[in-house]
Amino acid sequence: MNAPAAAPRIGGSADRAGARVPVLAVRELSKAFDGVQALHDVTFDVHAGERVALIGPNGAGKTTCFNVIDGQLRPDHGSVQLDGRRIDNLAPQSIAHRGVGRTFQVAATFPSMTVRENVAVALLAGARRDGALVGGIADALHDADEALERLALADLRFAHCASLAYGEAKRVELALALAQRPRLLLMDEPTAGAGAAARDAVLQVVHEVTRNADAAVLFTEHDMDVVFAHAQRVIVLDRGSVIATGTPDDIRRDARVQKAYLGTDAPHAPHAPADTR
Ligand SMILES: Nc1ncnc2c1ncn2[C@@H]1O[C@H](COP(=O)(O)OP(=O)(O)OP(=O)(O)O)[C@@H](O)[C@H]1O
Ligand SMILES: [Mg+2]
Repeated sequence: MNAPAAAPRIGGSADRAGARVPVLAVRELSKAFDGVQALHDVTFDVHAGERVALIGPNGAGKTTCFNVIDGQLRPDHGSVQLDGRRIDNLAPQSIAHRGVGRTFQVAATFPSMTVRENVAVALLAGARRDGALVGGIADALHDADEALERLALADLRFAHCASLAYGEAKRVELALALAQRPRLLLMDEPTAGAGAAARDAVLQVVHEVTRNADAAVLFTEHDMDVVFAHAQRVIVLDRGSVIATGTPDDIRRDARVQKAYLGTDAPHAPHAPADTR
């Protein structure tokens, strides 16, 4: 029989030499599709409590990177570690079980169930996985209502997921991912299709996730105002390679980043410092 998975370490951990072990360590990842080098030698860390944005022009490799981290794709080369343990050889369910939560560029829910039922099911599944006492469906529905309130989705509790607009479905999916209490939350364009109020609700939740330094968020985002206002660190991909890593201020000033964005659609280009809030 397999040994049970160790409980996730909370609040960051240290190796024997006392160095801080990142929640996520991506090392020399490469992945090609039919001659397209979607990822090339990608290396970066994400630490507990961090909100890190993974940005880059369309086709830069952001979604592919997420798909490798959460186990949907096998890398051609390189490794992924969660809390110092290798996960790139595991199935997606095992990686989710170890605490990697994910929202997708295109939302994924049970379409025939209501929003509230979807979240309640996710809460029950998460509670069972934690070994926590499951209070039953009534408690799960109560907690689901609270989660939906936080994400400005209370009015849609009884809507069927199939009827949701794109931005609404993405927020439901975020509620599902949060219900699993992830150690690492991967969010692929979480604010796409969201109006101003919904966008603020999503970003508020992202801050809450990282506030107690017990979890980390890695998100992709094309809106540079969102990136610069909400990421503590930014990793820039261009044609599969990391071309810059730094604080939002570093990234705004980076000549290679500005060059990589030239020629892309204006809304995707990083604003000059004077243009940002
Ligand atoms: N399953 C696949 N089969 C073939 N090529 C793929 C596949 N997935 C991605 N690619 C290619 O890999 C490259 C990186 O794509 P990816 O979707 O990771 O980019 P992205 O940074 O997420 O882009 P966007 O900002 O448009 O979402 C692109 O050239 C894309 O066409
Ligand atoms: Mg993408």
